Amino acid sequence: MTSRLLLVSGLLLVACSLALASDPSPLQDFCVADPDSKGTSLLVNGVVCKDPKRVQADDFLFRGLQLMGNTTNDVGSNVTAVNVAQLPGLNTLGISMARIDFAPWGLNAPHTHPRATEILTVIEGSLLVGFVTSNPENRLITKRLQKGDVFVFPEGLTHFQQNIGNGYALAIAGLSSQNPGTITIANAVFGSNPDIPGDILAKAFQVDIKVVQQIQSKF
Ligand SMILES: *[C@@H]1O[C@H](CO)[C@@H](O)[C@H](O)[C@H]1NC(C)=O
Ligand SMILES: *[C@@H]1O[C@H](CO)[C@@H](O)[C@H](O)[C@H]1NC(C)=O
Repeated sequence: MTSRLLLVSGLLLVACSLALASDPSPLQDFCVADPDSKGTSLLVNGVVCKDPKRVQADDFLFRGLQLMGNTTNDVGSNVTAVNVAQLPGLNTLGISMARIDFAPWGLNAPHTHPRATEILTVIEGSLLVGFVTSNPENRLITKRLQKGDVFVFPEGLTHFQQNIGNGYALAIAGLSSQNPGTITIANAVFGSNPDIPGDILAKAFQVDIKVVQQIQSKF
């Protein structure tokens, strides 16, 4: 009886670890996302595949990453994502990328990618980057990067990048998901729709509710 229980829990563990894996390995050469099928079919873990016979070279192509994003905004940075939404051929492949432009002292504000590890390289300028480990340590791991440096942000951890120069900075990032997702901490916590009740945030952040309302009004 006990050994059977052990076997069952062992199998459950194996099943769980498989289910927890990120984007699955594709079981065919490709599964180009078919945007037309959205909402009309049940989705697999990704977007429904386009008929392989209709697939074209352009399904595997994205053009425009030479273009600088517009950094005239509150934080002074701009992310140009190239994920499955922009490049249908990425569907099921577990990879994507982004171009990140920074105005002088611009910030890519603290955020997480729930489904991807990120590897970033500095093409131009210098960046101060960092990520925070999970509870209970919440240790900040941070580094100043120069042109050519490569830094990795482990999956799911809150991280940021700031331009620490008076010129423009540029970084290119690879992400281990076709659809990494982005949760910007400030927007998720203070800019949710509808608002998280002020008393909840006042208690969570140990501040007066007026402080919470002031921050919420910015988003
Ligand atoms: C990023 O840049 C693009 C292209 O210039 C622009 O359309 C977009 O509004 C910018 N996003 C933000 C958040 O500033
Ligand atoms: C960049 O965005 C700002 C603010 O939205 C806008 O005023 C400006 O015209 C944009 N610049 C370019 C080159 O599109």
